[in-house]
Amino acid sequence: AAKDGMAIDPLRTVAKEMKFLTGNIRKLLGSGHPALDRVAKYYTQAEGKHVRPLIVLLMSRATHLCPKSPLDAAPETARGIDTSISPLKILSDVNPMSNTTSYESELAESANLDILPSQRRLAEITELIHTASLLHDDVIDHSVSRRGAPSANLEFGNKMAVLAGDFLLGRASVALARLRNAEVVELLATVIANLVEGEFMQLKNTERDERSPKWSEETLSYYLQKTYLKTASLISKSCRASALLGNADQHTVEAAYSYGRNLGLAFQLVDDMLDYTRSGKDLGKPSGADLELGLATAPLLFAWKQMPELGALVGRKFAQEGDVERARQLVLQSDGIEQTRALAYDYSEKAIAAIADFPDSEAKDGLIEMAHKTIQRQK
Ligand code: FPP
Ligand code: MG
Ligand code: MG
Repeated sequence: AAKDGMAIDPLRTVAKEMKFLTGNIRKLLGSGHPALDRVAKYYTQAEGKHVRPLIVLLMSRATHLCPKSPLDAAPETARGIDTSISPLKILSDVNPMSNTTSYESELAESANLDILPSQRRLAEITELIHTASLLHDDVIDHSVSRRGAPSANLEFGNKMAVLAGDFLLGRASVALARLRNAEVVELLATVIANLVEGEFMQLKNTERDERSPKWSEETLSYYLQKTYLKTASLISKSCRASALLGNADQHTVEAAYSYGRNLGLAFQLVDDMLDYTRSGKDLGKPSGADLELGLATAPLLFAWKQMPELGALVGRKFAQEGDVERARQLVLQSDGIEQTRALAYDYSEKAIAAIADFPDSEAKDGLIEMAHKTIQRQK
């Protein structure tokens, strides 16, 4: 997307902000209880991809060049937004390291003043909610590895992993409330509910149905709705929140949301494809996990449309001896993988189209590059 034909590194545009991300998240997670402190920070040790905060920061920077909302032109500072890490003052007696840094001192070191402190905090909140959902997800999925290391549930047990996830959501909520923006609080609270709704749609889907269901167009729309709730809701609503915090006009807010929605759908489609095509070693988490969990994702749904005999296996959730292997073979023989890739490509193109009328900038190029990277990624 770069004008000179060289590939843009989306990270470069927001590298300074990204450098503080993990440290700030760890500060938000400080607890006076040493065991809780350890479990809560566990998934921040291994470097995650940080896709969501990266997108939030790029969106923040890209939308600053867009028209502003006429309704509320007051700059953030005038509204008295508190982005210091003072929520943790509650715990400063037991954890004196946790309450000292504020964004103001960091900002002074940064030459890039166009990302607001509240938008940087939003990027951290987004990653916190995502990480909380992973802690819970690994319990639900009985997963043994994450980000190339033992999963939190394996390392600390289910009870501590679940409680740690709840703790992350609590701290994310405190940080969110401190942004003093009711619409943004509402958006991110809805995301938390959506994650659970998506997970429930998926769980219901793993109930056995011995009548051997038939493929229908609804099969795919149910899957896409689930995928929106499970994955795209967080990305899309945090993109929307980023534009709102920057006081962008309504058209820009909708464009930011549409970018996030389409990118999120593309992202999960690729995830579901990689579960078939990559090894666990490549992914840093078990591969082939979906069929083992009884889940029919996009590659299988497309294969099922061509091969009705898959219905019986879908009905019994691949539970019979040899089902998982048979289903995998049929998927690989069909063009399920190719169709999934093509649908992901369509969504990534829609994401790019959504921000087409943003003014040219390095951040906009970064967002376009993220859409390309989403469909090219191998892990
Ligand atoms: C990963 O999917 C999981 C999610 C994107 C969301 C999981 C949501 C919950 C467990 C709901 C409750 C949680 C909170 C904190 C609101 P995956 O299992 O397909 O991906 P994986 O291969 O990375 O495990
Ligand atoms: Mg999982
Ligand atoms: Mg899961």
